[in-house]
Amino acid sequence: MAITVEAGAPAFSWPAESMTRVPYQVFLDPTIYEREQERLFRGPIWSYVALEAEIPKPQDFKATFVGDTPIVVNRDKDGVLHAFINRCAHRGALLCRELNGNRPRHTCVYHQWTYDLKGNLVGIPFKNGIGGAAGLPRDFDQSQHSLQKLRVATYRGLIFVSFSQNVESLDDYLGPAMRAHLDVIFNRPVQVLGHTRQFVSANWKLYAENVRDPYHASLLHLFHMTFGMYRSSQSGGIKLDARGRHSALQSIRRNDADEVAAYKGTEIRSYQTKYTLSDPSLLQGRPEFPGLSIQTIFPSLVVQQIQNTLAVRHLLPRGTERFELIFTFFGYADDDAEMQAIRRKQANLVGPAGLVSMEDGHAAEIVQQAIIRDKDMSSLVAMGGHDVGDEESLVTETGIRGFWRYYRELMGYGIPADVAREEQVWTRASAVSQ
Ligand code: FES
Ligand SMILES: [Fe+2]
Repeated sequence: MAITVEAGAPAFSWPAESMTRVPYQVFLDPTIYEREQERLFRGPIWSYVALEAEIPKPQDFKATFVGDTPIVVNRDKDGVLHAFINRCAHRGALLCRELNGNRPRHTCVYHQWTYDLKGNLVGIPFKNGIGGAAGLPRDFDQSQHSLQKLRVATYRGLIFVSFSQNVESLDDYLGPAMRAHLDVIFNRPVQVLGHTRQFVSANWKLYAENVRDPYHASLLHLFHMTFGMYRSSQSGGIKLDARGRHSALQSIRRNDADEVAAYKGTEIRSYQTKYTLSDPSLLQGRPEFPGLSIQTIFPSLVVQQIQNTLAVRHLLPRGTERFELIFTFFGYADDDAEMQAIRRKQANLVGPAGLVSMEDGHAAEIVQQAIIRDKDMSSLVAMGGHDVGDEESLVTETGIRGFWRYYRELMGYGIPADVAREEQVWTRASAVSQ
C-alpha cells in the first residue's frame, strides 16, 4: 500500500507497514533535508534556542541556529528578548560572528551597517555618499531593511523562537504533560555551568530517535547497566504529549537484586559484574530526583537529568550526514559550592567523551554508515507495538513512532487511513487524560 504524499513532496512512499517502518531515504536524501528546513524548522513549531540564564543581563546576546539557519537572540537595554536571523540586510553577511557576548548594538564587519537590539537598521556608513556623490538612492527607506525578526516565547527560563505567525502558543505546543516535567526540572532559577560541542557524522534524526528510545539505554550503555543508573527493569516509562511529538522518559530505581534479575542468564553484553569504579565518588551525589529522566521537545531539544547532572542538549542539523550537538550544563542558582562540584564531576557521564553519551553519537554513526546504499529499505520500530502513546515500560519505541508521526504530518508524507483513525482516538483519549 503506497501512502499518498502531498504535491511537491519528494517522490517516495513510506512503507506500507504503517507506523513501524522508517525509510532509510529520510536520512540520506538532500531534497528531504531541504524540505525539513522549510516545513519543520521554519514551519508551525517552536524551536528551542537558549536558556534565559545564558543571556541574563540587558544587551546580552547568543548566536545559534534554528535548523541550519543562523539566528541571534538578545535582550534589549530594558531586558526584553528579541530574536532575528543572523544575516545583514545589506549583502547577507553573518552579523554576529561570536557565540555570545554583550553589546549595545550589532555592527556588520563587512560594511559596518548597524542594527539596534530590536533588529532595526540604525546606521549606514556613507549613506549619502561623500561630497554629495553616490550613496544610496534618495528614496531608500531604511525602515524596510531591518533584520528578519522571529517570534519569541519562554517557558520556565527556556527560550523558544518561531518563524511562523500561525503557530499555536508555546504553552499549547508543549502541552500539559511536557510542561509538568519541565516544571520539575526548572523548579527554580538555574545557572549555567558550561558547554560542550561536538560533531557527529550522521543525520540529525538518528539522534532524535536515540533520545526517544529507552529500549537501547541499558543495552548499548554498559555503564548505565553496570552501575545501576538505568536498567530496563527499573520502574518508570515514557509519556508523550497529545500529538506524540514530544516525550518524557523516566526511570525510577527499585533495588539492585530485582533490577539485575531480568538480565541474569542472558547473553546481554551490558550485564557485566567485573567492572568497578576506581573513583566511586563519581556517582556519589546527593539525593535530588527519583531516577533518570530524558525529555525531548520536537524537533531539537533534549532536557536531561542523570543523577545530579542537568543539561539541555541542542541538536543542529548540518546537512544530511552530519549534525552538531551542544550540551549546556546547568545547576540551580542556589546550589552551594559542593553541589556545583558534584554536577561538574557527573558531567563526565555525558557530552562528547561522556562515559555514557559517547556511545549515542556512535550509534547514530553506525546506522548512517550501514544504510548508505539502500535508501529503498527501512528500519523497524515495533517495540511496544505499532501505536503511539504513553507506555509504562522502558522496553518500547513508542516515542520514536510519535516523532515520525508528527514529522510525516509536517512534511506532508501522509499517514495511513487506519493509523490516522487510531491516532484521532488516541489523541482524544490522551488529551482527556492529561
Ligand atoms: S554585508 Fe553587512 S554591511 Fe555589507
Ligand atoms: Fe543512549
